Amino acid sequence: MARPHIEPFVDRSVKFKKMTLPGFKKGMQYKMLSIDDDSGACTMTVRFEPGYKLPPGMSYTELEFFVQTGYIKYGDVKHGPGSYFRIPPGVSMPAMSAPRGALCLMFYNFAEPSFEESDEDHARAERHRLISVNAYDNMSWTSTNFFPATAPGCLVKILKYEERSNAFTFLYCMTPNFWQDNISYHDCCEEAYHIWGDSWMMQFGTLPTGGYFWRPPYINHGAFASKLGILAIGRTDSQLYNHFHFNPWTTPEENHARAASRILHWKPEMYRWIEAQGGHNHPHTPHDFEYDGGHHHHDDDDDQPNLTLGGVEL
Ligand SMILES: [Fe+2]
Repeated sequence: MARPHIEPFVDRSVKFKKMTLPGFKKGMQYKMLSIDDDSGACTMTVRFEPGYKLPPGMSYTELEFFVQTGYIKYGDVKHGPGSYFRIPPGVSMPAMSAPRGALCLMFYNFAEPSFEESDEDHARAERHRLISVNAYDNMSWTSTNFFPATAPGCLVKILKYEERSNAFTFLYCMTPNFWQDNISYHDCCEEAYHIWGDSWMMQFGTLPTGGYFWRPPYINHGAFASKLGILAIGRTDSQLYNHFHFNPWTTPEENHARAASRILHWKPEMYRWIEAQGGHNHPHTPHDFEYDGGHHHHDDDDDQPNLTLGGVEL
């Protein structure tokens, strides 16, 4: 099962809990924003108490990590507000600390949070996929470059882009008095957290600072407005296409059918080929030519648990 639709949700309305999973050190508190009950993949608001320390180590699944307030240190390097990390599974990070405390967001993709002390990478770690950037200080806002686009005044900074799935992670802002009068739905899951400010949506009302949603595909959202502007972090799990329309009464099933009909007209040969290969009840999964290893299981030649990426064991 995928994560359920959670919207609207405001993390200010719930209390922090102590993180007690093995490996994590005392002084880490979390608020669960969304969780996949089967895989354990989840998104959390996390507070590190002043003086928190973690030795060098790695996670068995991908971690995206964003600093909202305060700072953390990896080794001797300070990472303040706006710092973003995409830490691939198995990549060992230096000793981490939060001398004066920090408020962060942590996204554990594909499997439950894990931490294992290690000053070496796992044998199958993909260190070249490590991302570390300060998105506030060292990146510029750009217009959304996908079409059909959101209204002017919604700007993005792309933090992570997956070439395989087109999934991406991005900061976005809406300028004061932003508005957009149409309704949107997508073929992907969409997730967002309001770092600052509030925005309004016709279906879900006003979402303030600390507001959050995890929205499965094909759910209507919009029209939109933001009086004072917002700063937020968003993510998708695959390609984001804005299916815009003006009918607030359509259901996810109808939106799904409309999206499929669009694909029939955009890529008729592809659509018919996929249908001919499998039919309605047995969708055909084409061989994955470019990413060998996605669907077969490696023999374990070490005694470490396997890494998970994209929902499959590496
Ligand atoms: Fe959306």
